[in-house]
Amino acid sequence: MSTTRFLTGITTTGTPHLGNFVGSIRPSVAASLTPGVQSFYFLADYHALIKCEDPARIQRSTLEIAASWLAAGLNPEQVTFYRQSDIPEIPELTWLLTCVTGKGVLNRAHAYKASVDKNTAAERDADDGVTAGLFMYPVLMGADILMFKAHKVPVGRDQIQHIEMARDMAASFNHLYGEHFVLPEAAIDEHVATLPGLDGRKMSKSYDNTIPLFSSREQLKKLIGGILTDSRAPGEAKEVEGSALFQIYQAFATEAETAALRQQYADGIAWGDAKQVLLERVDQVIAPMRAQYEELIHNPARIEATLLAGAERARALATPFIRELRSAVGLRSLVQAGTATKAAKTAKVTLPSFKQYREADGKFYFKLVAADGRLLLQSTGFDAPKEAGQAIGQLQKGGDALQALAPRLAPVDGVEPADVTAALQALADAAAAS
Ligand code: TRP
Repeated sequence: MSTTRFLTGITTTGTPHLGNFVGSIRPSVAASLTPGVQSFYFLADYHALIKCEDPARIQRSTLEIAASWLAAGLNPEQVTFYRQSDIPEIPELTWLLTCVTGKGVLNRAHAYKASVDKNTAAERDADDGVTAGLFMYPVLMGADILMFKAHKVPVGRDQIQHIEMARDMAASFNHLYGEHFVLPEAAIDEHVATLPGLDGRKMSKSYDNTIPLFSSREQLKKLIGGILTDSRAPGEAKEVEGSALFQIYQAFATEAETAALRQQYADGIAWGDAKQVLLERVDQVIAPMRAQYEELIHNPARIEATLLAGAERARALATPFIRELRSAVGLRSLVQAGTATKAAKTAKVTLPSFKQYREADGKFYFKLVAADGRLLLQSTGFDAPKEAGQAIGQLQKGGDALQALAPRLAPVDGVEPADVTAALQALADAAAAS
């Protein structure tokens, strides 16, 4: 049976909250128990350095996140659970990937572009306050993923572009140096709820509206008491639609329990009583884990040992793989036979290809990528996958489709129209020949 390898990283900058639990920890722990699945979960502490310059906070967050995942039932015997910075092969691979990644591709990364747009709007230098770390973020993430030949990468919608980039890096590298990397795919769980925070907006550290996963029961009670509600009095019917309290309850309760609370809303339950119901339900889930968490957090040596054991397992794969990759690019002993020259490598003609994907904005996109991984065409967003598919069909037929579709294409820096025409022609020729 072939196993599917899942891999995901958690940036170590904060304290896990209920939103992290519902959106990431709980589904990941459940997925790690699925037969036929191999899971790699790691603490992305190199990524954390990009966002956080407080050493104590990085260390504390690493401890809290590790303790949270373990308390939530992650079994480090079953899952490869490690800390990114314990794997020196990752920064090494980052460099190999840096050398096959177009700078223009990184210019288009959402997080970097958002900083540039903000600076531009404020009439500052485009790169004001932007570190090279932020710019390189997608390459480090590509190394995380490609190092362990992950097939699926469970992430939030905001990370889809990064997975696409990792895929393109893998394709470029494979094209240049032979088939070494697995092309990864984002795994987006449509059923996982995004939890609202205290103020009704998405629960997020950046909105300062979170409920920590492992606060004491008293603290939990206090925070739940602060969830924003409307001014309807006891006895007045209440809306579940848009009620943060209801949505949080739903994420912790069974369907039958949720239906019961829905009825209580209609019957005019007092907000204070609804908050009590929520507290009891959340605490019922959290309390057993809380005891575990407390024990772990006061025993950092045990967590440290667990992470080091995970790193050892991860490096059993990473060390030979980086040796293979170094050799592939020519970083190898002078007495080693240098057979795999580029020309001798493969007679197979590789073609440009269209790729369809969905972005965080929910729209459907396509792009045309040259055989060497260079981006040639980039569409704007389509509302339906079918429309994107039809546009690709038109382009594949050739003729003046390129001109006709111009309004649906976004400019790509540094690409000559002749390159695009030649690529489309190569595809049309190949189709005619087959
Ligand atoms: N960028 C991810 C986030 O902010 C964290 C991360 C780092 C990651 N490396 C990864 C996720 C590799 C998946 C795979 O959520």
